[in-house]
Amino acid sequence: MAKIVKIDPLNQEVAIQTNDNLLSGLLLKELTVLEECGGRGMCSTCHVYITEGMDSLSPLNRREQRTLEVITSANKFSRLACQARVLGMGVTVELPTGMYINAIDNIEDLIGRRAEEPILHPITGQVLVQEGKLITRSMITLLQDTKVQVREYLEKTTDA
Ligand code: FES
Repeated sequence: MAKIVKIDPLNQEVAIQTNDNLLSGLLLKELTVLEECGGRGMCSTCHVYITEGMDSLSPLNRREQRTLEVITSANKFSRLACQARVLGMGVTVELPTGMYINAIDNIEDLIGRRAEEPILHPITGQVLVQEGKLITRSMITLLQDTKVQVREYLEKTTDA
Protein backbone atom coordinates (compact mmCIF):
# COMPACT_ATOMS: atom_id res chain seq x y z
CA MET A 1 0.00 0.00 0.00
CA ALA A 2 1.23 3.48 -0.79
CA LYS A 3 1.96 6.11 1.82
CA ILE A 4 1.38 9.80 1.21
CA VAL A 5 4.40 12.02 1.81
CA LYS A 6 4.18 15.83 1.88
CA ILE A 7 6.93 17.90 0.29
CA ASP A 8 7.66 21.36 1.70
CA PRO A 9 7.95 24.18 0.86
CA LEU A 10 6.42 23.19 -2.49
CA ASN A 11 3.17 22.22 -0.87
CA GLN A 12 2.98 19.00 -2.87
CA GLU A 13 2.12 15.42 -2.00
CA VAL A 14 3.39 12.19 -3.46
CA ALA A 15 2.36 8.56 -3.00
CA ILE A 16 5.29 6.26 -2.21
CA GLN A 17 4.97 2.49 -2.00
CA THR A 18 5.52 1.18 1.51
CA ASN A 19 9.19 0.34 2.02
CA ASP A 20 10.33 2.37 -0.99
CA ASN A 21 12.76 5.17 -0.28
CA LEU A 22 11.91 8.85 -0.14
CA LEU A 23 14.09 9.52 -3.15
CA SER A 24 11.77 7.53 -5.42
CA GLY A 25 8.95 9.90 -4.45
CA LEU A 26 10.99 13.04 -4.99
CA LEU A 27 12.00 11.82 -8.43
CA LEU A 28 8.38 11.02 -9.27
CA LYS A 29 7.67 14.69 -8.69
CA GLU A 30 10.47 15.50 -11.12
CA LEU A 31 12.33 17.42 -8.49
CA THR A 32 15.95 17.95 -9.32
CA VAL A 33 17.59 15.61 -6.87
CA LEU A 34 21.04 14.93 -8.20
CA GLU A 35 21.75 11.52 -6.64
CA GLU A 36 25.39 12.29 -7.20
CA CYS A 37 26.58 9.05 -5.57
CA GLY A 38 23.94 6.94 -7.32
CA GLY A 39 21.83 6.38 -4.21
CA ARG A 40 24.66 4.81 -2.19
CA GLY A 41 24.27 7.05 0.86
CA MET A 42 27.59 8.80 0.30
CA CYS A 43 26.79 12.36 -0.66
CA SER A 44 24.63 15.26 0.42
CA THR A 45 22.69 15.75 -2.79
CA CYS A 46 19.62 13.88 -1.52
CA HIS A 47 19.79 15.37 1.98
CA VAL A 48 16.35 16.37 3.27
CA TYR A 49 14.83 17.48 6.56
CA ILE A 50 11.94 15.52 8.04
CA THR A 51 9.66 18.08 9.59
CA GLU A 52 7.03 15.50 10.57
CA GLY A 53 6.83 11.74 10.84
CA MET A 54 10.43 10.68 11.51
CA ASP A 55 9.00 7.59 13.26
CA SER A 56 7.33 6.52 10.02
CA LEU A 57 10.72 6.05 8.33
CA SER A 58 13.19 3.18 8.53
CA PRO A 59 15.92 3.78 11.15
CA LEU A 60 19.26 5.34 10.20
CA ASN A 61 21.78 2.83 8.91
CA ARG A 62 25.51 3.16 9.60
CA ARG A 63 26.40 4.45 6.15
CA GLU A 64 23.73 7.14 6.36
CA GLN A 65 24.81 8.11 9.85
CA ARG A 66 28.44 8.49 8.79
CA THR A 67 27.51 10.63 5.80
CA LEU A 68 25.20 12.86 7.81
CA GLU A 69 28.09 13.48 10.22
CA VAL A 70 30.05 15.25 7.47
CA ILE A 71 27.13 17.27 6.12
CA THR A 72 27.55 20.69 7.68
CA SER A 73 23.89 21.60 7.33
CA ALA A 74 22.62 18.36 8.88
CA ASN A 75 20.68 18.36 12.13
CA LYS A 76 18.57 15.88 14.10
CA PHE A 77 15.82 16.13 11.48
CA SER A 78 18.14 15.19 8.60
CA ARG A 79 17.89 12.06 6.45
CA LEU A 80 19.28 10.93 3.13
CA ALA A 81 16.31 10.41 0.84
CA CYS A 82 17.94 7.43 -0.88
CA GLN A 83 18.35 5.59 2.42
CA ALA A 84 15.17 6.45 4.32
CA ARG A 85 12.36 4.04 3.51
CA VAL A 86 8.75 5.00 4.07
CA LEU A 87 7.01 2.64 6.50
CA GLY A 88 4.07 4.70 7.73
CA MET A 89 1.90 7.75 7.15
CA GLY A 90 2.45 11.34 8.18
CA VAL A 91 5.89 12.07 6.72
CA THR A 92 6.67 15.64 5.66
CA VAL A 93 9.93 16.33 3.86
CA GLU A 94 11.61 19.69 3.43
CA LEU A 95 14.26 20.22 0.79
CA PRO A 96 17.31 22.30 1.71
CA THR A 97 17.67 25.54 -0.24
CA GLY A 98 20.47 25.92 -2.74
CA MET A 99 21.90 24.06 -5.68
CA TYR A 100 24.82 21.65 -5.81
CA ILE A 101 27.69 22.64 -8.05
CA ASN A 102 27.43 19.41 -9.96
CA ALA A 103 24.06 20.55 -11.26
CA ILE A 104 25.71 23.46 -13.07
CA ASP A 105 26.90 22.45 -16.51
CA ASN A 106 28.82 25.54 -17.53
CA ILE A 107 30.30 27.01 -14.41
CA GLU A 108 32.25 29.57 -16.50
CA ASP A 109 28.96 31.18 -17.52
CA LEU A 110 28.48 32.33 -13.95
CA ILE A 111 31.42 34.77 -13.98
CA GLY A 112 30.27 38.30 -13.25
CA ARG A 113 26.79 37.18 -12.19
CA ARG A 114 25.27 37.04 -8.75
CA ALA A 115 24.35 33.65 -7.32
CA GLU A 116 20.58 33.28 -7.55
CA GLU A 117 20.65 30.77 -4.72
CA PRO A 118 23.36 29.32 -2.48
CA ILE A 119 25.80 27.02 -4.34
CA LEU A 120 26.50 23.91 -2.29
CA HIS A 121 29.21 21.27 -1.98
CA PRO A 122 27.84 17.87 -3.09
CA ILE A 123 29.49 15.88 -0.29
CA THR A 124 29.46 18.19 2.71
CA GLY A 125 26.47 20.37 1.78
CA GLN A 126 28.64 23.38 2.72
CA VAL A 127 27.70 26.72 1.15
CA LEU A 128 30.47 27.49 -1.36
CA VAL A 129 28.89 30.68 -2.69
CA GLN A 130 26.26 32.60 -0.78
CA GLU A 131 23.06 33.76 -2.43
CA GLY A 132 23.45 37.20 -4.00
CA LYS A 133 27.25 37.07 -4.04
CA LEU A 134 29.08 38.24 -7.14
CA ILE A 135 30.87 35.30 -8.76
CA THR A 136 34.49 36.02 -9.66
CA ARG A 137 36.97 34.11 -11.80
CA SER A 138 38.86 32.84 -8.74
CA MET A 139 35.62 31.46 -7.31
CA ILE A 140 35.01 29.64 -10.59
CA THR A 141 38.42 27.97 -10.33
CA LEU A 142 37.59 26.83 -6.82
CA LEU A 143 34.19 25.50 -7.90
CA GLN A 144 35.67 23.63 -10.85
CA ASP A 145 38.35 22.08 -8.62
CA THR A 146 35.71 21.02 -6.13
CA LYS A 147 33.64 19.45 -8.88
CA VAL A 148 36.62 17.36 -10.00
CA GLN A 149 37.52 16.36 -6.42
CA VAL A 150 33.96 15.22 -5.76
CA ARG A 151 33.93 13.10 -8.91
CA GLU A 152 37.26 11.51 -7.99
CA TYR A 153 36.14 10.88 -4.42
CA LEU A 154 32.97 9.13 -5.50
CA GLU A 155 34.75 7.11 -8.18
CA LYS A 156 37.21 5.65 -5.73
CA THR A 157 34.67 5.07 -2.99
CA THR A 158 33.25 1.59 -3.18
CA ASP A 159 30.14 0.18 -1.57
CA ALA A 160 32.20 -1.88 0.85
S1 FES B 1 22.10 10.01 -3.60
FE1 FES B 1 23.96 10.22 -2.57
S2 FES B 1 23.39 9.91 -0.54
FE2 FES B 1 21.55 9.68 -1.55
